[in-house]
Amino acid sequence: MTYIKLEKADGLALLTIDRPEGLNALNREVLRELTQVLLDLADDDQVRALIITGAGDRAFVAGADIAEMVDMDRSEAEMFARFGNRVMNQISSFPVPVIAAVNGYALGGGFELALACDLRLASQKASFAFPETGLGITPGFGGTQRLARLAGPMTAMDLIMTGRRIKADEARALGIVMEVTDQEQLLDRARELGRTIASEAPVAVREAKRAIMQGLDLILVEGLTLEEVCFGRCFETKDQKRAMTSFLNKEPIEEFEGE
Ligand code: COA
Repeated sequence: MTYIKLEKADGLALLTIDRPEGLNALNREVLRELTQVLLDLADDDQVRALIITGAGDRAFVAGADIAEMVDMDRSEAEMFARFGNRVMNQISSFPVPVIAAVNGYALGGGFELALACDLRLASQKASFAFPETGLGITPGFGGTQRLARLAGPMTAMDLIMTGRRIKADEARALGIVMEVTDQEQLLDRARELGRTIASEAPVAVREAKRAIMQGLDLILVEGLTLEEVCFGRCFETKDQKRAMTSFLNKEPIEEFEGE
């Protein structure tokens, strides 16, 4: 891998997008590598949470690569957006929770990458914007859809139609970011959050993500049926039997087995 660095420890995977010459901008090669790494990680039972961040202290990801897009025609652009959306969907449907640690510019495709993650932490240095309309395009990797669902259509219209850049605190006030930390503490906090999630019953965590994410695309009664299925699935696990029995015996369990 040229542009992706991967570390695994204590049930956590840390994926760093590292393309310093373009402030970690997403060109086709970065997207291809992301696809491959996510495919491999999704099969790794040891990974209980994934953290995504950008290399350096300036950018999370400064967008899709403008140099690659400038000469595209309509059908090439649609194919590029489809490719980007496939990668973003790999993240949003990734089997375990994905934490974005946003350490600097999250612009355009970088904002969309953060939106595809489940939990967003940002440093004080982070900023978010959709500069696309100023470049003569719309967001194309899920931004119009995910931001409108997350923060409401008016916030999506505001940020997308004005292109204005917001800092971490405003993103937090808009419900786009969960927590804001100092730059130096960002990765420690992301790891702490990841470890907390990793210490819960793995099947329950996966089923909870499935119920929440897939449920968002359903009408309420269908979502509730999905929740019943996810709830039922947990009762096939030893972890559920052990955790409930231990509670009743007043002996909290130390660790979950993951089945
Ligand atoms: N695509 C391609 N290259 C990009 C890029 C992008 N999205 N974002 C940054 N880069 C490149 C710059 O072209 C520059 O390359 P160079 O050193 O070969 O000239 C390098 O990264 C550093 O960026 P630079 O603009 O010199 O840094 P800056 O501190 O002056 O500004 C930004 C930083 C992020 C504000 C500015 O780079 C920017 O506006 N980037 C584009 C953001 C964007 O519109 N993203 C959405 C695309 S749809």
